[in-house]
Amino acid sequence: MPNIAAPSQLTRVICICHLHRGSVASVDSANTTTAITSLNRKGGVGKTHFCWLMASACHAAGLRILIVDLDPQANLTGSFLAEDDVTRSVEQLFDPSTEPDVESLIVSTEFEGVDLLPSSSRLEPLNISDNWHDSDLHLSLAEALHQVSNRYDYILFDCPPSLSLVSYAALCASQHVVIPLEAARWGALGTQHIAAAIELVQQHYNPRLRLMGYLVSRYKTRRSYQQTYLAELRKHFGDLAFETVIPDLAEYEKAVTDRNLLSNHSPSSRANKIANELLAEVQARAQKLA
Ligand SMILES: Nc1ncnc2c1ncn2[C@@H]1O[C@H](COP(=O)(O)OP(=O)(O)OP(=O)(O)O)[C@@H](O)[C@H]1O
Ligand SMILES: [Mg+2]
Repeated sequence: MPNIAAPSQLTRVICICHLHRGSVASVDSANTTTAITSLNRKGGVGKTHFCWLMASACHAAGLRILIVDLDPQANLTGSFLAEDDVTRSVEQLFDPSTEPDVESLIVSTEFEGVDLLPSSSRLEPLNISDNWHDSDLHLSLAEALHQVSNRYDYILFDCPPSLSLVSYAALCASQHVVIPLEAARWGALGTQHIAAAIELVQQHYNPRLRLMGYLVSRYKTRRSYQQTYLAELRKHFGDLAFETVIPDLAEYEKAVTDRNLLSNHSPSSRANKIANELLAEVQARAQKLA
């Protein structure tokens, strides 16, 4: 965990936010947009999948969603666009030498209501975990997305598997954090670092940030050890554990590979039903925390 910024630096940061937006960093100061960061330091636990499921369920429900890919691996981007189609990407919002032109970076996908702010390997230099607060770059997303947030019901930030500058930028621009994890012996390991990051951002940059919950993903129903760990995680996290559990299903992989959304690919499938249940629980949790 890096040291937090010195008090003088924090004051400056907060003043900048007041000047530009009239409130501390967050994309939702005056509208009903729900901005959620999907974050875990572990790789392959379903962070990207959560954003993709939300996109699918929002599309089916007629809601408007912006998915922001903050991972230089660009997996979420690849679920919607071919690599050659990505000419400009999200790293441009972090360029202190230019005014961010978020409008020109947002891509409308072929799915009604689903927009994407794409990523590419060009984001890699910003995926730094040390001294991320030495500049104000972690406020770039809140600043830029504020301009467009009232167009969306949801804004989802897909983070890399690290607590890096881009992950902190997502936390500064969100009201909620979802931590996807697996029901495994190591499932909860490292989540205390995410909780500490949330607290730091709450205290210094974005007081409205809240942990929405822990979402068990890639759950293999028939594996008894997963059943045991699911029960343990529920006991450990209590109400913060999502009721919805995302099972490991081939249908998800198939739809992602086809660059399709579940609501189009297999609308009557169990996989699609679970995506819709997830959206309903996210909506209920957001309302409860509001
Ligand atoms: N519930 C699921 N059923 C089947 N496959 C899944 C499921 N969830 C995720 N996957 C697949 O598992 C892989 C890892 O999932 P995902 O990319 O969401 O993890 P991640 O936490 O974002 O990983 P990274 O840290 O590398 O960004 C992907 O190929 C994804 O399509
Ligand atoms: Mg990912």
